[in-house]
Amino acid sequence: MKIAVVGTGYVGLVTGTCFAETGNHVTCVDIDEKKVQMLNNKQITIYEPGLEVLFERNIRQGRLEFTTDLKEGIKGAKIIFLALPTPPGEDGSADLKYVLKVAEDLGPILEEYTVIVDKSTVPVGTADKVHAAIAANAKVDFDVVSNPEFLREGVAVDDFMKPDRVVIGAESDKAKKVMEKLYGPFVRQGNPIIFMDVKSAELTKYAANSFLATKITFMNEIANLCELLGADVDMVRKGVGTDTRIGKRFLFAGIGYGGSCFPKDVQALAKSANQADYDFKILNSVMEVNQAQKERLIDPLKAYFNNDLSGKTIAIWGLAFKPYTDDIREAPALENISKLLSLGAKVKAYDPEAMENVKGVFGDKIYFAEDEYDALKDADALMIMTEWPVFRTPEFDKVEARLKNKVIFDGRNLYELGQMEELGFTYHSIGRKI
Ligand code: UGA
Repeated sequence: MKIAVVGTGYVGLVTGTCFAETGNHVTCVDIDEKKVQMLNNKQITIYEPGLEVLFERNIRQGRLEFTTDLKEGIKGAKIIFLALPTPPGEDGSADLKYVLKVAEDLGPILEEYTVIVDKSTVPVGTADKVHAAIAANAKVDFDVVSNPEFLREGVAVDDFMKPDRVVIGAESDKAKKVMEKLYGPFVRQGNPIIFMDVKSAELTKYAANSFLATKITFMNEIANLCELLGADVDMVRKGVGTDTRIGKRFLFAGIGYGGSCFPKDVQALAKSANQADYDFKILNSVMEVNQAQKERLIDPLKAYFNNDLSGKTIAIWGLAFKPYTDDIREAPALENISKLLSLGAKVKAYDPEAMENVKGVFGDKIYFAEDEYDALKDADALMIMTEWPVFRTPEFDKVEARLKNKVIFDGRNLYELGQMEELGFTYHSIGRKI
């Protein structure tokens, strides 16, 4: 089947590549000429483990192409995916200008019946708006379908190729059939395609992300309470997570969720609710708690240094919002670095993938280390912000030799308390005994 994907950001590139991998001919369209040139030169524009092999293979085999020309890109396409950015507007609601602009442009150039798919995370009612924007100038029949994406950065290829489920909001049987055929290869293990009305599909995406953000935030509050009551959040997590109604995943307490999705989507859903005259109280609390959680380690750090961080050097392990990505959007590390700098501290940071991106934010205000041990040289304390595997089992004698004080502030609960005690480190983590 011939498919077009408009927008070659993170979701667009993964979507296009994975559909090419299952034998479709995919043309990805983007207005960014430099990006399209790079992609046509087989240079991948995002960091995502496992994607490059598929990307190169499908270009080589002629199933994956890139262009800046929308009309050329959609020629012959039975399905056009819209994978465009929906950044938060000034009031927190999702800004649809990119999506609606492409919809307007599509109207006059559609040549035959086409299914237009909203892949971006968009508020309920967007498909109707996209429909109206296309219909204003369309000469042919078309359907607008909602097909939210649930992939996670870092494991995107696996999530895309083996989804727990595929959600499709479609109003016509014709569109349903086209989508069912496209997704056939992805649901062979019995994982379902769930068909529903368009609005329910649009809301499903926000509900899923907001629920997961709430789940994490709930555990973060339990963790904070554990610290006050002398309990251990790891034990509580195991205790509650084995209840199949709760489930083991997304129960890890830490220094708050980040990334390009949860913060934006929780805010957008709260805003949508507000616009519908509904006060979504839980979401407002989730945002407030998460904001505070991101700076959870600052107070104990200050206390350790008698409330004076001026002139102190803090080593930071991990800058990305989570491992296996170079994405630093809403990463707790950034807020902590800003805070540390404002308190007069110096920062030496290391991340396996995200340093280039952070250089764009802090420039020479902080030191970018060669590796995790270089970051520790003459540092007064270590803070851990991202659970990259390389930080899980460091050579503690090297850590001890470089740090001025044997003290670690761990926002990801990487180490056993017993081990830290044995090694003689002062160890602050989240929701566990000091
Ligand atoms: C999230 C969802 O998990 C995907 O299903 C969704 O498709 C995606 O957003 C999206 O809307 O595009 P992602 O942002 O890539 O995916 O990352 P997650 O692995 O979900 O992690 C999000 C944040 O939650 C990270 O900051 C992570 O550190 C934090 N987290 C996650 C915890 O603090 N504790 C946990 O137990 C799990």
